[in-house]
Amino acid sequence: MTVADGYRAVTLFVAGQPTSDGAGVKLTRVIGTPELGQLDPFLLLDEFRSDRPQDYIGGFPDHPHRGFETVTYMLAGRMRHRDSTGHEGVIEAGGVQWMTAGRGVIHSEMPEQEDGLLWGFQLWLNLPAAEKMKAPSYQEFADVAEEALDGGGTVRVIAGKTGRGTEGPVGGITTDPLYLDVTLPAGASFEEAIPAAANAFVYVYDGGLAVGGGNPLSRGILGVLGEGERVGARAGADGARFLLLAARPLGEPVARGGPFVMNTREEVQQAFRDFGDGSFLQAD
Ligand code: CO
Repeated sequence: MTVADGYRAVTLFVAGQPTSDGAGVKLTRVIGTPELGQLDPFLLLDEFRSDRPQDYIGGFPDHPHRGFETVTYMLAGRMRHRDSTGHEGVIEAGGVQWMTAGRGVIHSEMPEQEDGLLWGFQLWLNLPAAEKMKAPSYQEFADVAEEALDGGGTVRVIAGKTGRGTEGPVGGITTDPLYLDVTLPAGASFEEAIPAAANAFVYVYDGGLAVGGGNPLSRGILGVLGEGERVGARAGADGARFLLLAARPLGEPVARGGPFVMNTREEVQQAFRDFGDGSFLQAD
């Protein structure tokens, strides 16, 4: 499992940072921090996980997005989504909502529960310049594809296709993302092909995982993966649960301003103007 064999090694270990967003929702930000501002085309990764209602009950009231995609994947609990066009639904445990904000969405994301565990992830995936102002759209699935591994464990496939042929329900994304949620029992190994051109990372959200024969990642640690064509990993004594993501980088300038991610500062300022004067949701 060495770099010489084409296996990717962890080139950067990043600890998520506790923060809050929305109306006081406590979460751990893993991408989108001073330590890891982005990993093209991944702009942000948040993990929210609490069984204390006061940590999540405020939710994320109405706010806009433009220029990228928000991907919400739930492990436990229920989140209600509602947008300015009347689109509404509940994302439940095991389900995913892949929202292409495009030129603009104003939405709320609120817990559909008053107690119990709320656990999930929100990922922001950048759009290429040519798609930043396209019409908003959704891909929503109550369940994703699941694959059993020979040595025990399961792979849930949200987007992309595994080397064993299991294909996730989300498709048609320009950066060809692979989004896997992997569960391994103690000591089990995992292997997956990753295109050499893709940027990739693993985020361990339970247990421990050694990638490419290197030092193990523990819960709450993201490992940026270096060059190579495959990922090889082995779970520690407590097993491992982790996200594996890969996507083709855009290589375009990134200008961020709060909920807007464009290519230039002028485009971000335009987004704030459009939001301020009410023209945000109108088609060109
Ligand atoms: Co949002």
